[in-house]
Amino acid sequence: MHYYAFLALVPFVRACTNPDSDSCASFMTNQAATASPFCATFTQSAVTATAALPAWATACSNKPSAISKECSCAFTGGGGATTTTKTTSTTLTTTTRTTTGSGGGATGSCSSPNYSLQGYGAGTTGGGSGSGTTVTSCSALTSAAANGGVITISGVLDGCGIIDLVSDTTVIGSGSRSGLTSGGLRVKRASNVILKNLYFHDPPEGKDLVEIQYSTQVWVDHCDFSTEGLTGDKDYYDGLLDITHGSDFVTVSWNKFHDHWKGSLVGHSDSNSGEDKGKLHITYHHNYFNNINSRLPSFRFGTGHVFSSCFENNPTSGINSRMGAQLLVEQNYFSSTKLAIVTDLDSDEDGYAVDRDNIFVDSTTRITQTGSLTPPYSYTLNPASCICSMVKSYAGLGVI
Ligand SMILES: *[C@@H]1O[C@H](CO)[C@@H](O)[C@H](O)[C@H]1NC(C)=O
Repeated sequence: MHYYAFLALVPFVRACTNPDSDSCASFMTNQAATASPFCATFTQSAVTATAALPAWATACSNKPSAISKECSCAFTGGGGATTTTKTTSTTLTTTTRTTTGSGGGATGSCSSPNYSLQGYGAGTTGGGSGSGTTVTSCSALTSAAANGGVITISGVLDGCGIIDLVSDTTVIGSGSRSGLTSGGLRVKRASNVILKNLYFHDPPEGKDLVEIQYSTQVWVDHCDFSTEGLTGDKDYYDGLLDITHGSDFVTVSWNKFHDHWKGSLVGHSDSNSGEDKGKLHITYHHNYFNNINSRLPSFRFGTGHVFSSCFENNPTSGINSRMGAQLLVEQNYFSSTKLAIVTDLDSDEDGYAVDRDNIFVDSTTRITQTGSLTPPYSYTLNPASCICSMVKSYAGLGVI
């Protein structure tokens, strides 16, 4: 049985917001003497971040897109105020969804995991099929990384810092717990890199565990990412897996992401469209996200396909589509995940999302713009109803 409760239905055909429930709309209508002259000269494109906004812009979460929208709703004809008219109106805001855990997409079987590389990262071969080098120290890893090829890490190396990888490299962890603590890997201006069966725990302060920048053809598979959990300063560490600066053609599969504030960021800034627009094609499939505050993942500008994954106990937000990003979200299971799919959070412009055949238990969604992504490849889905047990068994370390 499905039970959908629609909260806060907004009775507008246009995308104007109800002043009784929205502080930005309320300010515009109640303080017209202040707001109207400002709206008459406001030009969204001249605003960077929160600079050049009046103090009352906090009522609009300091979002130029929200100010622009409410200016044009409250003061028709306000000069320069209509640069981001939304193309899609919406009648629902946050939707609380509770099911018994049945339903969802049933394509595929529950019994046989398919570990083949698929999705946007297809074709990645890394360091090839040789046996390569096995390393047991940070210095050996650093030297091997400079040459590429196949590198096997044996044991957990502590305190290596951030190590740069070059093109045509595979880094693989040996056994059920090999990788890095107080360290991380960076793929920067490289292509054709595979990371497999690696334990990543606690990067250096302020850093990501894995960072992919200006790079193409990367496959991150069967790894485990975590820090100390939702405790301490949320910015003490940065992300678990961040993909930025126009990177493209990446697949992130069969990983466990857990116990951290900021999960996986795709596209680092609202103002980076020059590098990111038309890039950042990324597939996330068969991953497990547990006890992470946000960014599961968060996408700006790019194109993302998130399928057959399990999300549990994520208290703030899940899949976040921003700045026109196009996301297809299908056959996932969300449990106790707030804003499991959201398109109007944290950025100046909303993103797009398609919500297809997912199961939601004690979770919410807020989708303001329906997306249009059809992936250009075939892929193996598994049923949402059994995906949590599948990824708990078959994702992460010691499986392949
Ligand atoms: C596994 O996935 C690959 C890549 O999508 C596909 O070519 C292959 O047919 C799949 N295998 C099975 C048994 O479904």
